[in-house]
Amino acid sequence: MHSFEYRDHTLFCEDVDLQALAEKHGTPLYVYSGGTFRDHYRRLDSALSELDHLICFAVKANSNLAVLNRLAKEGAGFDIVSGGELFRVLKAGGDPSKCSFAGVGKTRAEIEYALEKGIHSFNVESVAELRFINQVAGEVGKKAPVSMRVNPNVDAKTHKYISTGKSENKFGIDFGRIAEVYAMAAAELPHLILRGVQMHIGSQLTTIDPFLEAVRKVAPLVAELKEAHAIEFFSIGGGIGIIYQDSLASGHSAWWSHPPEPVAEEKGVPLTVARYAEALVPLLKPLGVRILLEPGRFIAGNAGVLLTKVLYEKKGSAKTFKIVDAGMNDLIRPALYEGHHDIVPVRMSEKSWTETVDVVGPICESGDFFAQNREIPSVAEGDYLALMSAGAYGFVMASNYNSRPLPAEILVEGATASVVRERQTLDDLVAGEKIP
Ligand code: LLP
Repeated sequence: MHSFEYRDHTLFCEDVDLQALAEKHGTPLYVYSGGTFRDHYRRLDSALSELDHLICFAVKANSNLAVLNRLAKEGAGFDIVSGGELFRVLKAGGDPSKCSFAGVGKTRAEIEYALEKGIHSFNVESVAELRFINQVAGEVGKKAPVSMRVNPNVDAKTHKYISTGKSENKFGIDFGRIAEVYAMAAAELPHLILRGVQMHIGSQLTTIDPFLEAVRKVAPLVAELKEAHAIEFFSIGGGIGIIYQDSLASGHSAWWSHPPEPVAEEKGVPLTVARYAEALVPLLKPLGVRILLEPGRFIAGNAGVLLTKVLYEKKGSAKTFKIVDAGMNDLIRPALYEGHHDIVPVRMSEKSWTETVDVVGPICESGDFFAQNREIPSVAEGDYLALMSAGAYGFVMASNYNSRPLPAEILVEGATASVVRERQTLDDLVAGEKIP
C-alpha cells in the first residue's frame, strides 16, 4: 500500500499534500495514514486466517486515541502495559475483554482497575507478581485470568535494548520453571484462572529464525499445560520488524509501507508477513489453542512520519549541519538506539542534487541528531523534511525536555486530515506546577 508517495514532486500521505499540511499546522508535526494502519492490520489478520487468533495491538507503539479507535473498529484487541494504556483503550472504544496486560511491575491500583474492567488476561512476569495478583483478586472478590510469560532463552538478534527473550533479561519466567509454577498456582492460588502462556522475545526482528526457534521450543510446553491445566491460548508476542532503510536514489516509494511481498523479496527483506505465517502456522495450528499476537511496530511504524522544518544551515569546517525544528524530545529513536529513519524532502526540487549532511535538532545535547554524514537531497532553510517510519515509538516516547511543547498529531484518511492531538501550548508546559 502506497500511503506516502510523491505526486508531482510533493510528498503526499494518502490524498493529503504534506507541504500544505505542514504550512497549516506548523512543525514538528506527526502525520499518520489511517489506511496504512488498517492495511497492515488486515494483512496480518488474513495471513493468519487458518488459526483461531486475536491480534492485540501493542499500545506502547502508538497510543493516540484516534489510532486505537480505528484499530478497535477493525476488531483488534490490545496489548497494554499500564493502567494508563487501559484507560486510553477504553476511551477509544476498545473492548477490555480483548486486552492483555503485560509488564514486570504492575501496581495494586493497576491490577484492581484491570480486574474491575474485566480484561482478557494478565501476562505475569514473576512468581511474586502471580501471588500478588491472586491476593488482590481475592480481596476484591474476583478471579484473575492469567497467563505466564515464559522466557525461552532465545537470542532475538536485535538491538540490546529491545531484546527480551534471553535469561539475562528481566522479562518472564525461566522456561525450565514454568510447568512447576503452573502446578504451584493451580494448587495454592485459588483466585487465579490459568488461561494461557505468553512470550515475546524482542522487537524489530528481521528474520524468521528467532521466532521459529522460540515457537518450536515453547510449543511442547503449551501442549503440556493445555493437558494439565486446560489453558486456552498461547500469545507469541510482537516483534515483527519493518523496513526503515532504503536508498532514495531508487525513487521507489513502495517501501515506506511494508512492501507487498514480492517487492520485499526483491529487496532481500528476509521477514515478510507471508513468511511469518507460512513458517509459524503449521507449528501453531496443531496446538488447538487460540493464538494471540502483540504487534506494535509492524502495524504502526510505517504508518506515520514526523514533519520538520529546516531552520538553519550551518557549514562547519568538517561538516554541514541542517538544523531542524524537531529534536530528540520529539523522536528519540536515533539518539537512543541509533535507529535509522529515512529523511526526505517534502517538496522535491526538480534539480534534485544531493549533499552529505548531519540533520540535527535544537536540543543542547550532541546526541540530538536524526542523521549523521547522510546523503540527502539538497534542502534550503524553510524547506520541510519528513522523517519516515515514525508511526511506532515516535510520539509515545516524546517528552518535554528543554521545555519544548509536544507536537500535534494528524490522522489522514483519504483526503481528510484530522487533528487528533493539539500541539501543546506554553501554558500546558507548566500545568500542574506550583510555586510554594
Ligand atoms: N509485546 C511485548 C511484551 C513487548 O514488550 C513489546 C514491545 C511488544 C509486544 C511489541 O513489539 P513490536 O511488535 O512493536 O516489536 N522503543 C523501542 C521498541 C521497544 C519495544 C518494547 N516492547 C523502539 O523504538 O525500537
